[in-house]
Amino acid sequence: DGQIGYDASGFLNETGNLFLDPAFVNTASCDSRITYIDGDNGVLRYRGYPIEQLATHSTYLETAYLVIYGDLPSAAELKTFEERIRRSTLIDERMRDLFRCFPRRSHPMPVLAAGVMALSTFSEKSAGIEPDQVENATDRLIAKMPTLAAFSYKNSVGQPTLYPDNSLSYIENFIRMSFGFPTEAYEFNDEITRALEVLLILHVDHEQNCSTSTVRMVGSSGANLYSAVSAGTNALSGPKHGGANQAVIEMLQGIRDSGMSTREFVSQVKDHKSNVKLMGFGHRIYKNYDPRAAIIKEHADNILKLHSGRQDLLEIAQELEETAMSDDYFRERKLYPNVDFYSGLIYEAMGFPVNMFTVLFAIGRLPGWIAHYREQLATSNKIWRPRQIYTGEQERAYRPVDLRP
Ligand code: ACO
Repeated sequence: DGQIGYDASGFLNETGNLFLDPAFVNTASCDSRITYIDGDNGVLRYRGYPIEQLATHSTYLETAYLVIYGDLPSAAELKTFEERIRRSTLIDERMRDLFRCFPRRSHPMPVLAAGVMALSTFSEKSAGIEPDQVENATDRLIAKMPTLAAFSYKNSVGQPTLYPDNSLSYIENFIRMSFGFPTEAYEFNDEITRALEVLLILHVDHEQNCSTSTVRMVGSSGANLYSAVSAGTNALSGPKHGGANQAVIEMLQGIRDSGMSTREFVSQVKDHKSNVKLMGFGHRIYKNYDPRAAIIKEHADNILKLHSGRQDLLEIAQELEETAMSDDYFRERKLYPNVDFYSGLIYEAMGFPVNMFTVLFAIGRLPGWIAHYREQLATSNKIWRPRQIYTGEQERAYRPVDLRP
């Protein structure tokens, strides 16, 4: 009689097209031409280009162009794109007041999300879904995200904010706005600048992860790019998504401070009753070495040599990886280091506090969010609206409060 039936494996209605798939483990929400992942073989490609090649040869802005527009730019296209971004890095003076009104030491992630949303109110020209509005919002977001992120950071540590200096590269500008002071020249370290650029490239896209799916979901309603990116930023803020690299640092510090050996820690992890996980290991899609982790590991080694104070955590991380990789528990379950295992160590060595790690992830992921938003806008005008299986009460009669037990 049209009722929905179900069994342990899922639900089916009379037309045979309603399935229960909690957490969308087996549901493809769209088709996409942006990013290819082969989790069994540890392959990640943006628009067909292997992540290893982009991390070696490309810049963040070039990779952003590739992911958003579908192809690597010509020299002239890249120059024009970089110029457009350079011209837009400043934020409206009144937005500086927005940052001032958050409590000192606010977590920079909600401040960043609020900043992204506020941007839309400062440009009617880009707060819509017409192609020229989306194009304008794309430039503004890529250009201003590091400014918003650095302002969020400066607010969180109670320091004065710095205007962008457009004679610097995109990455240098962000580093200076984060660590410089208005009255002092900032000295760059090329290795750290390149490592940050590579980390951002590695985070640019990862197909239908939680924040990107959120961006697509919000975008499907016809909301503008700022709304979708702000929602994506909030989705990323959760510890299961953007926060795992912080958990890795805390785990490594815990091992160091307790004086236990990595072997003892791994034994704890293997004991399911302990509920301890080896943070930075395992991935829903990668059942092989996360290709991003392999690239990051090399940089971690180089960067941490420059900061001998952090070497102890890197050594624990490396020993932990060796211990886990020679253990059947991890091999049988195909648990390998993921992108978060070494990235937090590099961010820390660069001088970022742990609450900035997710903000850095957001800067990296921004081009991916934009690319997915634009792809969806160009290919579908259908609002996303999943179904549910209702498991609540059957119909019942309302009773006034004095007649309730
Ligand atoms: N440490 C110890 N055991 C683990 C770990 C881990 N890090 N990850 C998975 N396992 C075990 C599970 O306990 C389970 O064992 P069982 O079969 O005996 O019950 C088995 O491996 C399968 O694990 P699932 O949880 O089913 O795998 P799933 O794909 O759902 O989870 C996840 C992936 C959430 C990433 C998980 O591996 C995890 O929690 N890792 C640690 C947190 C982390 O590093 N997250 C960052 C992911 S990368 C990113 O989001 C950018």
